[in-house]
Amino acid sequence: MSDKTVAILGATGVVGTQMLVSLEERGFPVGRLVPLASARSVEAGRVVRFRGEDVPVELARPEAFEGVDIVLGAASDELAGKLLPEAVKRGATCVDNSHAFRLDADVPLVVPEINAADIAGNNGIVSNPNCATIIGLVPLWPLHQAAGLTRLVVSTYQAASGAGMAGLRELERETRAVAADEPMGQTDPFAHQLAHNLIPQIGGFDEMGYTSEEMKMQNEGRKIMHLPDLRVNCTCVRVPVARSHSESITCEFTRPLSVDQARELLEAAPGVRVVDDPAAGVYPMPLDTSDQDLIWVGRLRRDLSAPEGASALTFWCCGDQIRKGAATNAVQIAEHLL
Ligand SMILES: NC(=O)c1ccc[n+]([C@@H]2O[C@H](COP(=O)([O-])OP(=O)(O)OC[C@H]3O[C@@H](n4cnc5c(N)ncnc54)[C@H](OP(=O)(O)O)[C@@H]3O)[C@@H](O)[C@H]2O)c1
Repeated sequence: MSDKTVAILGATGVVGTQMLVSLEERGFPVGRLVPLASARSVEAGRVVRFRGEDVPVELARPEAFEGVDIVLGAASDELAGKLLPEAVKRGATCVDNSHAFRLDADVPLVVPEINAADIAGNNGIVSNPNCATIIGLVPLWPLHQAAGLTRLVVSTYQAASGAGMAGLRELERETRAVAADEPMGQTDPFAHQLAHNLIPQIGGFDEMGYTSEEMKMQNEGRKIMHLPDLRVNCTCVRVPVARSHSESITCEFTRPLSVDQARELLEAAPGVRVVDDPAAGVYPMPLDTSDQDLIWVGRLRRDLSAPEGASALTFWCCGDQIRKGAATNAVQIAEHLL
């Protein structure tokens, strides 16, 4: 396999930094690395570390994509919308983590464990789904294949680093300020203090009272699983956890699915690890699922509230949203592009 020239758009951010690690860990055939970021990073002379070497950061601009084979996008919606079409014009194929193209009809939205076959239909851009969507869908997929998923009720508990480097730094700052009993000051990028708190808002609200993050679970879930009628009720909450998102998921099916059958399916599912011995205090937690690639599933049980005769289960899952929720999923897609 010939080595590729790989650019990372947003190489200095939370996701971009993890992409460097994921490329290296998975032995992706990178011949030349082109780390791209803002003028701030270039003027500061920033470098990124890749395979034991310092690689200077370059300015993200259309000309930077000349000669690039694959672009991994780890920047804002706006920047991705502006620059990735320029990369495609110059012959690159892009795997993008932003929301910019996810619902476009000609852009595959891919979780490789679920719909890797969709990658073949790309026109230069493949989108990586929202992180909470990936973490929920990886364990839901084998259950759907067995029993036919119809409805989801989800609550997410999303880590501060889901809001990028600024979110992570802000949680650290607030935690220090609380400990030192200092004034909190401005809480950017969060609308409220996150340390010692929960914030039931990620993104803006629509006219129905749902946030943009909550609607991603429905709209992206439908597209990835090819289930246009899937019904989803999602509540997304930012929690004072550094890394790794958690989700409580209740799922309804058309066909019967017992807890034991679900457990067996999940134990055999790619990308999933069953961690479920509640009597011994063993279940997934974000501290344990940070910095690894599997989605841990536990607290698997029957949905007590489902109507008589209905097929419904409830479980809890945690996964590292920077790895499987972003960087690793993107590198897996890039592996399929090879
Ligand atoms: N964080 C997560 O858990 C997560 C999970 C899934 C998807 N995503 C998505 O992944 C993307 C990246 O998120 P992130 O969390 O990694 O963000 P981040 O930590 O804030 O990093 C943003 C990156 O974009 C670069 N950038 C910002 N403004 C720029 C400009 N004007 N020109 C060129 N580069 C610019 C930054 O470079 P400088 O350092 O030079 O500013 C940095 O490399 C977003 O679309 C996000 O929604 C994030």
